[in-house]
Order: sequence, then C-alpha cells, then structure tokens
Amino acid sequence: MQHPPREQWHSRLGFVLATVGSAVGLGNVWRFPTMVSRRGGGAFLLVYLVAVAAVGIPLMMAELSLGRRSQTNVVDAFESTSASSGWGLIGALAALAALTILSYYAVIAGWTLIYGYLGMTGQLANLSSDALGQLFSYLTQNTLWPLIAQAMFLGMSAAIVAAGVTAGIERYSTILLPTMVILLLVLLVRAILLPGAAEGVRWFLRLDLQAVNFGVALEAMGQVFFSFSLGMGAVLTYGSYLSRDDDIPQNSLLITTADVVIALLAGLVVVSALFAFGIDLDVGAGLIFVALPSVFNTLPASALWATLFFLSLTFASLTSLISFMEVLNAVVMEKLNWSRRASVVAVSAGVFIGGIPSALAEGPLANITPAGMNLLDFFDFVASNAMLPLSGLLTVIFVGWVWGIESAGEEITRGAINLPAAIRHIWGIIIKYAAPLVLAYILINGIWGN
Ligand code: PFF
Repeated sequence: MQHPPREQWHSRLGFVLATVGSAVGLGNVWRFPTMVSRRGGGAFLLVYLVAVAAVGIPLMMAELSLGRRSQTNVVDAFESTSASSGWGLIGALAALAALTILSYYAVIAGWTLIYGYLGMTGQLANLSSDALGQLFSYLTQNTLWPLIAQAMFLGMSAAIVAAGVTAGIERYSTILLPTMVILLLVLLVRAILLPGAAEGVRWFLRLDLQAVNFGVALEAMGQVFFSFSLGMGAVLTYGSYLSRDDDIPQNSLLITTADVVIALLAGLVVVSALFAFGIDLDVGAGLIFVALPSVFNTLPASALWATLFFLSLTFASLTSLISFMEVLNAVVMEKLNWSRRASVVAVSAGVFIGGIPSALAEGPLANITPAGMNLLDFFDFVASNAMLPLSGLLTVIFVGWVWGIESAGEEITRGAINLPAAIRHIWGIIIKYAAPLVLAYILINGIWGN
C-alpha cells in the first residue's frame, strides 16, 4: 500500500500542547502530591527541580532530536541513525515499555471515567467515606466493570489516534489540555478557600532537609522520568512529527516547565483539600477514589467538585494514553505498511487483551501475586523500575556513543541558532557521561533496592 506523506504538526503550539498532554497524567495528580508530602515537602521539590534540570530536560532534548532527525517510528529511529544494525532493539524495548504501561494505565484511566460519570450524575454525593470505600472495592473487584471501563477508554483514545496526528492528536490535545488546566484552577481556588488549607500548603512546601537523602533523590529522578513520558518512545515519536526549523531546546524547556507547574497545581489542590479535613495522604488509588470524594461530599455543590476533579483526571489521562498509543501505532503502521486505521484497531485490541490481567487484578485474579504484588502493581513495578530506566539508559548510550554526540548536537542546534555553545557542550557531557551513570544507578536500585 502506498502511504500518504508522513504528517507533521500543524503548529508549534499544537506540538507543545500534545507533548505537555502526554507528560501531564495520573503521575502528576496521583504520584507527585504523595511523593512531595512524604519526602520532605519543599526540600523534595528542590531535589526534583535539580533532577528536572540535570536529567529531565537533557533527555527530553535527546529524544526529540532523535525523533526529528529520523522522522520515523521508535524502532526505525534507532536503526536509521546507526551504521550497524540491531539498534532497533532499543526502540522495541521502548515500545514494549509503552505497551506494558498502557495496559494498566488504561485500566486506572477507565476508573476515572466511571467516577466522572458517577460524579456528574450525583451518585457520589451523600456517600460516607465507608460507602465510598465499598464502592471502590466493588468496582475494582468486579469482573465486568474494569473491563468495560478499560474498553471505553481505549475506544476514545483509538478514535482520536485514528483521526491522525493533526486532525486527532493535535486537535484534541489543544482542547483537552487547556480545559484540564482550567478545571484544576477552579478546584485550586475552591481548595485553598477551605479552612485549614493554608496550613496544608505551608506543610506541603516545608523545607524538611532531613527527609532528603540519596534514595529520595533517586525517587525524584524516577518520577521525572515517568512524568515527562521519557524512555518509552512517546517523546521520540512526537518529535518525529516536528519540522526541521523548530527550536528543540526552547520547546523542551517550555514542555517540562508546564509539566512541573501543573504537577504543583495538582499537588496544592490535593494537599489543601486533604489537610483541611485532617486526612492522611494515602498512596495511590485510595487517595483519588475514596479520600478526595469524601472531602468533596462535605462541601456545598459536592457533585460539581467531584465532576470537575474526575473530568480533569480523565482529560489528563486521555492525552497521555493517546501518546502511548501513537508510539505503538507508528511502529505497526510503518513496519507493516498498514493504514492508520487498521493499525489503531490492531493496537487497541492488543492493548485491551494485554490489559485484562491488570483489569482483573483486584477481582478474579487477586490470588495471583508475583513478588507479593497484585498484577496491576506488578506491571507498574516492572515497567517503572526496570523497563523505563533500562530503555532510558540504552537511549542515552545510543545518542551519546552510537549516533554520536556531534550529530545529535547538530540536530539540536538546527532551529535553535541562538543556543549558546556552552549549553550544547554541557548537554553533551550530561548525555554522554552523567546520564548513563545516573540511569544505571536508578536501574540497579529500582530492581534490587526494593
Ligand atoms: N507522563 C504520564 C503521567 O505522568 O501520568 C505517564 C506517561 C504517559 C508515561 C505517556 C509514558 C508515556 F508514554
């Protein structure tokens, strides 16, 4: 089949919003606030910002430049920029990481969709905390609901991705991301007006330097990685639709800053709401699906707050999910020479099947607990602690040593004429020496340190 010419982003803004959309997701609203609260507040934030500057931004630049240089999917990107063959395996690992995360991310995203619906129809209002806890257990332990939710969410993502890079991904990211931010800002105003919220904010930003140690710094880097969607080809694939004259360093700075700011906004919403009611910051699902709805239920117009919150989470997850899907979609489309539509159908079906174990992890498959975790947590653990750092490590080694820091540096400077030579030089040192060491350490620690 003859393919139409490869698409490119319609506008710089569209590209930035799509990439920020990929970065902003469950990681910002769910992991980040808990992590900051538990690991020393403002002190953790300082470490996080150092990790952003030292690892996050340089790696985002590396992935974007590899994508733009090769103008192809994540597997061929490595093949086409190396003299010898076999390097595509790094891309295949990244695609596998995307598939693994996608399989359980779609399940959790499906729950946000169900809760958005329950919130909107007023069914969460008036439920006590206990009743909310029971509702969540019922939904997650059921056989059918998690599968339906996952299928619906994948269906929405598939429809967007099938419409194409500009008419689907760019268009919907341009609508969904700003809407999500507006919803979050409305929630922020509501949350900081709660009595006791100021106390929460002060606690969130406290400078508890004692809480920061080496392990915490590693955790911060892991979170930077997950939050910026690095290591699984999403940024690379989005970079492959960039035109030659876009400014990669400037865009990377913009995208990462937006992601950090949105994570902070989400953190402030969650912390002020919970603090005002003296609720402990629980990790993960309980925080989002039980504690926060209980807080909303104490407020007038509770259905409105629950709706805004779960819609913002649904939109954030959707723009992340489409980026995972596009990674796999581009590989299938370009490797097998399939049409976009056929490839989206195949990828969605594959992800749905791959996600069944995670969807049923609390229900019929609750007895299967590899390494003492349920299946959903297990996939999260394997992907976040092993696959992402490994594929990130191989990517920086590839960019620094195989494709070569000179060629990569040239690609980065293209469209960024004013980039000071010193910045390019420092970037090269980070990618060639510092990032591989840090990532190797994160990998070893992520697997054996837990
Ligand atoms: N960055 C997203 C989040 O923080 O929730 C998660 C994510 C999206 C990871 C897309 C990887 C990816 F390719």
